[in-house]
Formats: sequence, structure tokens, C-alpha cells
Amino acid sequence: MKVIQVLSLALLAALAANAQVIMPGRCPKPAVQENFDAAKYLGTWYDIQRLPHAFQKGECCTATYSLKAPGVVGVLNRELLADGSINAISGSATAKNPSEPAKLLVSFFENSPPAPYWVLSTDYENYSLVYSCTDLGVLHVEFAWIMSRHPTLPEETLEELHSTLSSIGVRVDKLLTTNQDEAYCSPMSQ
Ligand SMILES: *[C@@H]1O[C@H](CO)[C@@H](O)[C@H](O)[C@H]1NC(C)=O
Repeated sequence: MKVIQVLSLALLAALAANAQVIMPGRCPKPAVQENFDAAKYLGTWYDIQRLPHAFQKGECCTATYSLKAPGVVGVLNRELLADGSINAISGSATAKNPSEPAKLLVSFFENSPPAPYWVLSTDYENYSLVYSCTDLGVLHVEFAWIMSRHPTLPEETLEELHSTLSSIGVRVDKLLTTNQDEAYCSPMSQ
């Protein structure tokens, strides 16, 4: 076996323990939102569905984007943990190439490699579909988030976004639905 295959299998084993979605082959190259306008994207988004992610264990998850500096979007992710505490993590996002504004890179920790954050589709006022994929040799690890400006999203919008994800090979059946129940999530608004 080639070294890269051995490494991939080792990573596969390590990541499988964290229940992330690993797929064969290289990352797909999906179309992204045309003429993405970061200014219209700012503000708060509610997670509606997501692929499993080791760093996201709670419910009621929200992402709030703000303008930190020209071309730099501040990111604040919040979630309610099972013990009732609120976990918050902040980072920043920038477009690597100004001609591809929907292809952002997000970093949360100094010295950790930035993760891709690609806005595949958004109307800014209702929904956003975000995809993140990293090549791991002959495999790739991928994340996706379906977000809404409100704690709910109409079923027909969800289905449309699912078909976009399916068309690039994402396992829609692996999506987890985030609990955004108003009563359950009330600690988040304090
Ligand atoms: C958001 O959804 C509402 C209700 O369906 C619709 O009236 C509105 O046009 C949508 N916004 C955009 C930008 O498409």
C-alpha cells in the first residue's frame, strides 16, 4: 500500500471515533453562491441541520457574523450543552481569493489550519447552505450546515437544499437535526 493510503486509513480510524463523515475520493468541487455578498450575510443564523462534527456537541446552535475589518468577517458560534451551560467560540473568516467571495476560510484557533467555509447557496433573508471539505489523501472529510434566519425552515426549502447536497454526493441521510425548540433553547437568549 502506498504511504498515503496507510495515512488515510489511520486518519479514517482516528476520525471515525469522532463520528465525522469520511467519504472515498477527493473533495467535490461544487458550484457556490454567485456574487456572494458578505455584507448581506452578516447577523445571526440558526443551525437547522448539520453533518456530525466533533466540535459541535450541543443544541440550539447559532452562528453570528459581523464585520471585523474590511474583508474580515468575525464569527461567533454558540451552543447550549446538555448540562445547561453555553459554549461559545469565536473566530474569523476571509475569502482567500477576492474573485471567489463565497469560498471563505475560517479559523478559530491561532496556529490551527483554517477550514474551508463555502456558501453553496443563500438568499440572505431565509436560508444558507454551507459546505466544508478537506482532502485526506484518497479520502475526504466533509461537513455541511443548513442554516436559517429563524429557528425553523420550511420543509420545501430543506428539500431543495438536500437535493443540492445529494447532487455533490453528500450523504443527506447523515444529517442531524439541531434542536431549536424555543423553550429548550431559552437559556441562549439570556
Ligand atoms: C424569504 O422567504 C419569504 C417567505 O417565503 C419570501 O417572501 C422572501 O421573498 C424570501 N426572501 C428572499 C430574499 O428570497
